[in-house]
Amino acid sequence: MSTLLTVRDLRAYYIISKNIAVRAVDGVNLDIMMDEVLGVVGESGCGKTTLANTIIMNIRPPLHIIGGDVVIEGRNITRMRREELREKVWGRLISIIPQSALNSLPPVKRIGDFMFDVMRYRLGVKDKRKALELARQRLEDVKLPPETLGMYPHELSGGMKQRVVIAIATLLEPRLLIADEPTSALDVSTQKVILRILLELKRRRILRSILFITHDIAILRQIADRIAVMYAGKVIEVGSMEEILDNPLHPYTKALINSVITPEPEIRRRGLSYIPGRPPSLIRPPPGCRFHPRCSYAMRICQQREPPLCEVKEGHWVACHLYLEESNRG
Ligand SMILES: Nc1ncnc2c1ncn2[C@@H]1O[C@H](COP(=O)(O)OP(=O)(O)O)[C@@H](O)[C@H]1O
Ligand code: SF4
Ligand SMILES: [Mg+2]
Repeated sequence: MSTLLTVRDLRAYYIISKNIAVRAVDGVNLDIMMDEVLGVVGESGCGKTTLANTIIMNIRPPLHIIGGDVVIEGRNITRMRREELREKVWGRLISIIPQSALNSLPPVKRIGDFMFDVMRYRLGVKDKRKALELARQRLEDVKLPPETLGMYPHELSGGMKQRVVIAIATLLEPRLLIADEPTSALDVSTQKVILRILLELKRRRILRSILFITHDIAILRQIADRIAVMYAGKVIEVGSMEEILDNPLHPYTKALINSVITPEPEIRRRGLSYIPGRPPSLIRPPPGCRFHPRCSYAMRICQQREPPLCEVKEGHWVACHLYLEESNRG
């Protein structure tokens, strides 16, 4: 499999004042392969949405890129200006379904008019007939009838609205679709429909790769090829879906999996878990391994040195001192 997008030492902070920064993405390394579904999972507040916005360069103050690179098809998009991003990247190379997108369709616009606005102003498609044809086609691809074009958002169910959002995000057949918690507000059977539609669009090559973001690790069994686990602004474990779910190495990943074995819907829906303690402050994160205050395996070195992300088995990477040789620690 070839690499589609590379994230290297990416840091994106919310600068609140001269002395206060929320280090929401803090040294993330990640590869997204062509034709894969990469799941990104972690507790609420660990930086998933910030990572999504940074990968697509949707950066508005107080969020700032502090360092690092995002490279897609040989182009470093952190260096691009807005016009270039609009012309070459957004909607074409990378598209996003933002978190809570299904609640953000404008209530007073018919779906067709909104789709045309998106095509005209965001994607540069000016020809109305061509736009209408494209909108109809994509609605059909997400299994919605053409009459949807004349409807208002309040006439659609949650699942139908999410399908409209998917249709809009995939109008120009992006290489990478970032889906930020696209199923979190939906009931279980609607979730399944949405996952099936995403996989179908991928199979038909309307899109190639998906970055699927969720706080619910269990759902990844249904869609992910690989999984990256985030904790406190960092990726702390990456591997194949089977490896991560059936043979997790990092103590945080193990705790995350154990916490969803107890299926309390309210806890899962709100992105909470039974892991003792609370996620750390991202303004002043703990030194060394950021998980050490909550980790029952913590050693002295864990408070002193940050463990690097290392490949401990083929394709299975983990950032934890338990798996480092004494000589490699730090
Ligand atoms: N506009 C903002 N200003 C300041 N801090 C923010 C802002 N948006 C998010 N944050 C903080 O950044 C951290 C990561 O948030 P987010 O990326 O939304 O996490 P997740 O998507 O994993 O829930 C959290 O501590 C959150 O409070
Ligand atoms: S590095 Fe130490 S504190 Fe961090 S997860 Fe591993 S054992 Fe626990
Ligand atoms: Mg989020």
